[in-house]
Amino acid sequence: MKKIGVLTGGGDCPGLNAVIRAVVKKSHRNGWEVLGIIDGWKGLIEGQVMTLTETHISGILPKGGTILGTSRTNPFKDQKHVDALLDNMKKFKLDALIAIGGEDTLGVALKLYKMGIPLVGVPKTIDNDISGTDYTFGFDTAVSIVTDAIDRLHTTAESHHRIMVLEVMGRHAGWIATMSGIAGGADDILIPEIPFDLDALCANLKARHDTGKKFSIVVVSEGAIPKDTKQFETVSQEKDEFGHVRLGGIGQRLAKEIEKRLGVETRFTVLGHVQRGGSPTAYDRVLATRYGVEAVELVKSGQFGKMVALRGYEIVPVDLNESVTKLRIVDMKIYNIARTFFAKPVED
Ligand code: F6P
Repeated sequence: MKKIGVLTGGGDCPGLNAVIRAVVKKSHRNGWEVLGIIDGWKGLIEGQVMTLTETHISGILPKGGTILGTSRTNPFKDQKHVDALLDNMKKFKLDALIAIGGEDTLGVALKLYKMGIPLVGVPKTIDNDISGTDYTFGFDTAVSIVTDAIDRLHTTAESHHRIMVLEVMGRHAGWIATMSGIAGGADDILIPEIPFDLDALCANLKARHDTGKKFSIVVVSEGAIPKDTKQFETVSQEKDEFGHVRLGGIGQRLAKEIEKRLGVETRFTVLGHVQRGGSPTAYDRVLATRYGVEAVELVKSGQFGKMVALRGYEIVPVDLNESVTKLRIVDMKIYNIARTFFAKPVED
């Protein structure tokens, strides 16, 4: 009889509970027991676990967030935490681990695998910035939320003849801004991958207004950087246990600059954690479910040190080493599709 542990780490997103439900269901089909680890790696350090039964997973498929809780705890900040984690793996007699998380959580998983822990990763993040997979679950839901916000901003921008700046998440990759900008018909999209020029942005907006359109929508990724300073805006300099600062503030700064230069009323909106809340889209529910079932299959076949990944239509195993060591940034072929619709696009 196998006993496997499952944890959710890092920023939460819709779809986590769909993965947990699939892991528990598929494991029970194999006659295995599943131990839910509370609050990500923190729970394995502190020995906070709960046996997951059919009752726990009943009705959680459409529920956002994670029934296990999550944290941004990094065990490798303190050797005592690593020792405690390894001790608890033995204490709970876990035959394997399934770690559901982004680059930070899976980076810890890779280190533990190299120390001999049998584990499998599941790629989660609204940022879609994990190499090795075409999509992370959580991303489609975030793009849908942002697209809805852009649609709503259109009507108020048009009524007031205003420029609206929408700041979105994504950390140091501009996937959310790019895909929602295309879906929502944004008039400019600023992403970390392309340091922006304020003059060029204003020239683009002015060119659009000169055609008679007296309103515009600009989507800016929280990690976007100006060409001159190459410095992103932060809410504070405090860093989390993986060294990340809290990004934020570019939207407000841009709105002020645009209004000053163009003399057009400009407002900003920061969507923040709304992009991480609520029920997953159907796409994310299906992707998360497939990831959970296939992760259990990898455990069954002993393919450890792997992450389930979407390649085209297929779910395939990829080495964690390949996935978590480099950021997946926006494909310029897709960004150039967005440029088609800018009045005066900046040429590469
Ligand atoms: O990685 C997901 C994410 O939402 C990023 O897009 C964002 O910058 C960060 O997490 C916010 O972290 P927290 O929820 O800890 O404020």
